[in-house]
Amino acid sequence: MKRVIAIIALVLMPVAALASSGAGPKLESANIDLSNEAAIQRGAKYFVNYCMGCHSAQYVRYKLFTKVGLTEQQIKDNLIFNGSKVGALMTNAMPGEYAATAFGAPAPDLTLEGRRRSADWIYTYLKSFYTDPSRPTGVNNVVFPNVGMPNVLWELEGIKEPVYRYEVHEGGHMVAEFDSEAEAEAKAKELGGEARVEKVVDHFNPVRPGKMSAGEFDQVVRDLTTYLAYIAEPIKLERQRMGVWVLLFLVIFTVLAYITKKEWWKDVH
Ligand code: HEC
Repeated sequence: MKRVIAIIALVLMPVAALASSGAGPKLESANIDLSNEAAIQRGAKYFVNYCMGCHSAQYVRYKLFTKVGLTEQQIKDNLIFNGSKVGALMTNAMPGEYAATAFGAPAPDLTLEGRRRSADWIYTYLKSFYTDPSRPTGVNNVVFPNVGMPNVLWELEGIKEPVYRYEVHEGGHMVAEFDSEAEAEAKAKELGGEARVEKVVDHFNPVRPGKMSAGEFDQVVRDLTTYLAYIAEPIKLERQRMGVWVLLFLVIFTVLAYITKKEWWKDVH
């Protein structure tokens, strides 16, 4: 029995480790559904319209989207603006050095972004741009501080400014929080020694509305996230379908093996 418990504990350990790595800003749940082909199609359309000016998906061929319900003609009409062939890769024309000078960082290829970052991270990232006059782009980002990327979806989302909260930390723990920086500094001084103040974004205030309602904008971001998760691992869908058959096969095989064993040993006894 002890051994069984030890094995279960071992299996669950990585889960526990993941669950407890709660450092950093809280991520929103993206709630994507990879079997939603319409969402992937819409996400692809937003991607070519709003993202491909800077980012590529250079390991993906446009043709991939025939697997999520688009015809080659639809792909040509809706997703290709640079005269590429349907069989071509989703590259873009912006040289890395240009982006590096213009934005302080090259815009990375996003083919594998859905595996490098979680869906929740991407979803939260695209919703976390806020005004920050100290940045060259005029915006900053809660989950990617001092990001080089401008808020390319601002027209849809609108503009929002941050409301800060000031946390006093000591010995790796938050010991107090304040709305005012002065009060937080006073508290830190009172504690002395290692206490320090951390400025964090508490929530956003809308400054200017966008073309979309909050719900509509969430849907756009969810579609983009679904699309990025899909291109990062297009065979995930097929693998899940296949997995069911593999398990079924194993069950049947086990039953057959058991029956065979019984038959053989009958004669031995
Ligand atoms: C004007 C150019 C530009 C456009 C358009 C743009 N981005 Fe970016 N993006 C960047 C740059 C530059 C970075 C790198 C930021 C850095 O490293 O500081 C970046 C970073 C990112 C990252 C984080 C990469 C990482 O490090 O994990 C994601 C995700 C992303 N972009 C998604 C998008 C999506 C989705 C769109 C379209 C809605 C988009 N971007 C449009 C310039 C752009």
